Parts: sequence; C-alpha cells; structure tokens
Amino acid sequence: MKTIKFRNGDEMPIIGLGTWKSKPGEVYQAVLWALEAGYRHIDCAAIYNNEKEVGNALEKAFKDRLIKREELFITSKLWNSNHRLDDVQAALKRTLKDLKLSYLDLYLIHWPVSFKQGVGFAEHREEFYTYSDVPLIQTWEGMEQSKDQGFTRHIGVSNFNSEKLGELISSGRIVPEMNQIELHPFLPQEKLVNFCRSNEILLTAYSPLGSGDRADSIKKPNEPSLLENPTVIEIASAHNASSAQILIAYSIHRGIAVIPKSVNKERIGQNLEASKIHLSEADMEKLSNIGTSYRYVDGSFFTGPMSPYTLDDLWEK
Ligand code: A2P
Repeated sequence: MKTIKFRNGDEMPIIGLGTWKSKPGEVYQAVLWALEAGYRHIDCAAIYNNEKEVGNALEKAFKDRLIKREELFITSKLWNSNHRLDDVQAALKRTLKDLKLSYLDLYLIHWPVSFKQGVGFAEHREEFYTYSDVPLIQTWEGMEQSKDQGFTRHIGVSNFNSEKLGELISSGRIVPEMNQIELHPFLPQEKLVNFCRSNEILLTAYSPLGSGDRADSIKKPNEPSLLENPTVIEIASAHNASSAQILIAYSIHRGIAVIPKSVNKERIGQNLEASKIHLSEADMEKLSNIGTSYRYVDGSFFTGPMSPYTLDDLWEK
C-alpha cells in the first residue's frame, strides 16, 4: 500500500477506512472486513459515537493475531467541547479507553469551533465559547502536550483554513502535521492544498465520495452527485473501474490520504483496490475541469443565528 510520510519519516497508508456515519451495530464488522481485506489505516472520531465498537473490533483482530498494533495507523479527533487546555488530554484518554489502545497514531482538532464542556452540538449562545474564551492556540498546546507524553505519535487539525493554520504555525511549538479537509473533484481546494504543502502539512481527504449517507438535516435538496457525474463515469468506464474507485484514485494521484467510508464488505474491498488505478494527466485534467463546485459538509450546522461563528470564519477566503 502506498503511504504518505510525516516529517520524521513515519508513514501513513494512503487509503484508510472512514467511520463517520457507520452505525455502532455495523462498524465492528466493517473494521474486521477492512483489516482482512488489507486496510491498515482507520479514521475515527469521538463524535462518531462508535469508538467503543471500533475498539472491540481492534481487540478481536489483535486477539486473533490478524494484525499487530504497530502495523496499524489509527486516527481520532478531539470534539469541540474539549478545547480547554485541561480538557484535551482527558478527552484523548477517553478515546484511547474506547478504542482499547495505549496510543494513537494521529490526533486531530476536529473543528476550529469551541463548545462548553458536555455540549454535543451547541445551539444556544451560552453553549459556545468564542476564540477569546478559548484561543485555538490553547487547544493546540494541549495537543502538543499529548504528543510529548506519548499518547499520540502525531498531531494535526481538521477543517482549518490557511489563516488558522498560520496562527498555530507562528505561535505553536509544533507545526501541525496534518489537515483533514473535504476534498474531491467538486472541491479541489488548490490554494489550501498548496499552503499545506509549502508548510509540510500532510492532507487527508474526507467525504471523497460525497457522503451521500449524511442525515437529511445536514443535506441540501438537489445536491450534485460525485458518483453519478458524467466525467467521473466516463473515466471509470475507460479504466474498467467504479466511480468510487476513480474518486479515491484522484486523491492518491495528488499524494493526499483518503478515507472512504463503507460498511459493505464488497465496497470496502473495492475501495482498497482503487490503489491499483493510475489516472493519466489527461484524466486529472478532465477531473479538474469537471465544471461543478460543491462543498457537502458546509459547516452551517455550527453557524446558526445563536452562534458566534460564521461560515466566513471557517473556510478559505
Ligand atoms: P456503504 O457504507 O453502504 O458502502 P464518503 O466516504 O464520501 O462519506 O461516502 C460514504 C457513502 O458512500 C456511503 O453511503 C457508502 O455506503 C457509499 N460508498 C462507499 N463505497 C462505495 C462504493 N465503492 N460505491 C458506491 N458507494 C459507496
């Protein structure tokens, strides 16, 4: 499996299994199928509310000697309600307990948005913290301490634009090692990708297939479909592949890790096989001229009328 490399030489398998939206009753089996198929990278988060089941699957795989811990790359993410310095490590330890691990390979700040402790999804003004209440750099210090103490090998962020990354780069001790963002042919984010590359920040593409299984409450009517896009279908048929495989190969071609979610055995296998597809420059050119621009996970669930955050704060200008 192709990998991408951290500054210290550590490697991360370029395809990982996504677990956002995987129901607790499905994710156990999905993780075991993925490990059997050859996945060595699993992407998790506390807010996915399924880390215990992922942990049960990992425990089973270790017990059955299917895999050793050191052969795996496990990512998790700090939820918005644990951004205060003292809360970061406590949250990480809960995640480690749920995953039944003694360390993570990568821990990310999930969103640059801060809630009061115990709040799942803030709706009322008093449930939010602002950047003056809890500056991002305070959260980052907690992440740095977690790395220093060996609870995680690498630290990074998710959903950060270049301005917020710049803040951490200039005021932090450790430059973020990863930015996990929505990336696919409808949202190539060239400017942010180039900013990360020039600062040696690796990238992971989430929602690479368009996350069609999102809840209706965070979906808009008539969203464009990546999997059914005519350009994607045309390239897929030329490669005798599926649309999903082309979308995964698109990220690999850019040197960006990619975490397609599936709980279906056949599709889990198919997605990993995408590593064998080599897109030509002409294919990439067609995908970069796809003619549709769309962000599926637009963050508007954090920017309602009672929120101190705006969409302008979140995304690249
Ligand atoms: P399922 O879990 O039933 O396979 P994303 O990774 O962008 O969040 O997209 C996940 C969605 O894409 C899920 O609905 C998932 O369904 C579906 N999916 C995953 N792999 C494939 C595939 N190879 N072909 C079609 N749909 C897929």
